[in-house]
Amino acid sequence: MTAESTALLRTPEGVTALESASEIAGGDPLAAASALRARGVPPELAAAALTQVDLRRRAVAKFGADAASMFFTRAGLEQATRAVVAGRRARRLAAAGVRTLADLGCGLGSDALAAAREGISVYAVDADPETAAVAAANVAALGLGDLVTVECADATSVEVERYDAVFADPARRKAGRGRVFDPRSYSPPWDFIAALPERVPRTVLKLAPGIDHDLLPPGAEGEWVSVDGDLVEAAFWCGPLAEVPRRASLIQVSREKSVKGEQLTGTGAAKAPVGPTGAFLYDPDPAVVRSHLVAELAELIGGRLADPEIAYLYTDVAVGTPFARRLEVTDVLPFSLKRLRALLRERGVGRLEIRKRGSALEPEQLRKDLRLGGPNAASLVLTRVSGAPTALLCKAI
Ligand SMILES: C[S@@+](CC[C@H](N)C(=O)[O-])C[C@H]1O[C@@H](n2cnc3c(N)ncnc32)[C@H](O)[C@@H]1O
Repeated sequence: MTAESTALLRTPEGVTALESASEIAGGDPLAAASALRARGVPPELAAAALTQVDLRRRAVAKFGADAASMFFTRAGLEQATRAVVAGRRARRLAAAGVRTLADLGCGLGSDALAAAREGISVYAVDADPETAAVAAANVAALGLGDLVTVECADATSVEVERYDAVFADPARRKAGRGRVFDPRSYSPPWDFIAALPERVPRTVLKLAPGIDHDLLPPGAEGEWVSVDGDLVEAAFWCGPLAEVPRRASLIQVSREKSVKGEQLTGTGAAKAPVGPTGAFLYDPDPAVVRSHLVAELAELIGGRLADPEIAYLYTDVAVGTPFARRLEVTDVLPFSLKRLRALLRERGVGRLEIRKRGSALEPEQLRKDLRLGGPNAASLVLTRVSGAPTALLCKAI
């Protein structure tokens, strides 16, 4: 998509081409393109409309019903905040009294649109002309033109001090192997991003979930967010927006599209007690692990670690929690392929779910080596207990 093709799709001919494309799309792309051309749609417009219809279809997972009227680029859709996550953030900003917001690097506008829906006036910029054009098209498509102004500009040129709050979701090139954080991979540059809280105390930064806790500005809140068990982002809430040192936010989007949320908060510095394994094992949600709130979860469920370095918790009685998957342990054995194979054969296990933390074993290779067979299902956890490689066989969940 180019800025020109987005403009073309917004003309009356473009709207008609999009309608025809959504009727035709779904099968063979070449056949769809010639069917559109047969209806008198010029080739360039036909290609743009078919691409857009395909992107809208993919975007439903992030944007729900709004996707049908929005505009996307492939990269913009990939980087966009899911609407449920952007909506939560916007509600929190509005509740904190934010009325005007600068969105620096707005992408196709997910966060800006969510803020506007909470009544916040947004000045959104993106350095990429094509992306800025798409963001502007989305503002118009969702009828939020009174609240959002989009400009193609470099974030570093914005007079951020004019706004109640600033939001930045910098673009990142993929860091090389083993490198968790590379400031050079950020655009706008990390130095600019990191200095924002000094210029505008109410700053929110959206960052990759692997971000180092040491990069949190003093006094800021670090929030890690998961959606349906997938870790999706970290957010640093700075200045007066910080409410707690660390927060894990778990969002569940049910099939009926109702959204539920659970939050765990704490210091991120506490240590969980360490003891023996137990009858129940808890595999914490990745947001809990990344926000360093395993000790808080341990306290909540009366649990313990069996290895100080590994984030599996254990209890002797079953405790319900939304913050972890619970498994019922049937056998604990020092890891040995031979013993494990014999045990699984004895139990008639043909279907095995394998989880691991602190084990270098490759689950798929192990599955082959175990030569499974039988009518039963089970879960296997590969981990360490007091430093020793250990296998825990659990009832299937
Ligand atoms: C991760 S995306 C933002 C996604 C957005 N929050 C959303 O949900 O749609 C980052 C955006 O920053 C833009 N960007 C990168 N460097 C920039 C700069 N110096 N000034 C303005 N925008 C920039 C990129 O073009 C990209 O669209």
